[in-house]
Amino acid sequence: MMVALPPGAIIEFIAIEHCDPIMTKQKTPEQGGICSHKFAFLLDNWIRRLIQNLAKIIGEYIQPGDIAIDMGCGPGFFTIEMARLVGEEGQAIAVDMQPEMLARVARKAARKGVAAQVTCHRCEPDRIGLDLAADFMLAYYMVHETPDAAAFFREARTLLRGDGHLLVVEPKMHVTRRVFDQMLAVAEEGGFKVISFPLKKGGHSVLLGIAEAHPLRRAESNRE
Ligand SMILES: C[S@@+](CC[C@H](N)C(=O)[O-])C[C@H]1O[C@@H](n2cnc3c(N)ncnc32)[C@H](O)[C@@H]1O
Repeated sequence: MMVALPPGAIIEFIAIEHCDPIMTKQKTPEQGGICSHKFAFLLDNWIRRLIQNLAKIIGEYIQPGDIAIDMGCGPGFFTIEMARLVGEEGQAIAVDMQPEMLARVARKAARKGVAAQVTCHRCEPDRIGLDLAADFMLAYYMVHETPDAAAFFREARTLLRGDGHLLVVEPKMHVTRRVFDQMLAVAEEGGFKVISFPLKKGGHSVLLGIAEAHPLRRAESNRE
């Protein structure tokens, strides 16, 4: 019997890892729990570009001249588009714990002519280790892989300007609504506020801010 999967589910399926309800656990590419660089080709290819429209996912959050961080960038599916959006006056910072992923990003940035706008930064699993104030951060299919989500959100908050935003998207095939809600609670404890639950981003999605209370609160917003 043929089962029709929605296109987004295929993209989520290839992010091969398990979701742990408790988000504090040792995870490595070798032990599992992290999408290994060996599967990088599955995360950056023409099929994904057909299914996920990069401009629609991140375009509305990034202006020319911005500093934008792609946290858990993998092979840079989003980084290159970020670099185009920030333009020559801005910077796209690709951050990952796997050096092999960052090497792919650097090669791709050079190939696509945006190397000057891309900085690659290798982080530790439990420490980002940047010192800057960004306008936008993306954590796409990444937070459920972090060994300590609380530490991630606490540090991420310090890396955003007061009016900066963090877009978190998590794969529905790996992350249940209950676990996503736990993540939100952890983010709020880390100093974030929910601004909206944007639709059509490719999974459970939330736009977080650290500015003063935003008029659009969780209860009033739409949820996918
Ligand atoms: C499923 S992949 C998604 C990659 C990319 N965001 C995308 O959508 O194509 C998750 C990535 O997050 C990275 N990652 C997981 N935990 C991390 C952590 N604590 N700090 C930095 N990167 C992490 C992994 O190395 C992997 O490259």
